[in-house]
Amino acid sequence: MTVELDLERVLCRLADLAGGARGFTLGGRDWPLRIFVVKSGETVHGYVNRCPHAGHALDLLPQRFLTADGSLILCSSHGALFEKSTGYCVAGPCAGAALTPVPLQVSCGLVLLDEGVDVDALAGAAR
Ligand code: FES
Repeated sequence: MTVELDLERVLCRLADLAGGARGFTLGGRDWPLRIFVVKSGETVHGYVNRCPHAGHALDLLPQRFLTADGSLILCSSHGALFEKSTGYCVAGPCAGAALTPVPLQVSCGLVLLDEGVDVDALAGAAR
C-alpha cells in the first residue's frame, strides 16, 4: 500500500516528541503562526502557542510547555495550567478558558497539520 504525504504539512517525527511537547513557527509573513504539539498517551494534540490570559506565548523558557511531571500544559508567564487532551484551562488566571486547537494528523510516524488548516487564518485569529 502506498501512502502519499503532503510534505509541506509535516511538522516533525512522532519520535521527536519524546520530551512531551514541541513548538513550531509556521508561515513566512509578518505575523507567523506559533503553535505547539503535545503528546497525551498515544495521541497528539496541537494548539496555538498563545495563552488566553494575556496573549503571551506559553513557553517563556523556549520549548518548555509542560509541568515538571509532564501531566499538564503550563503557561510560564503567570502559571495557567491546561489539560493536554483538550487545552482547557483547569487552574490559573484564565481558568475555564481554552487554548485554540490546531487540527493534526499522525501518519507513517510523522506529525502533520491536518488537511485544510489555514495557517494564515489561524495566525490572524491569534493576534
Ligand atoms: S499569559 Fe498565560 S497565565 Fe498569563
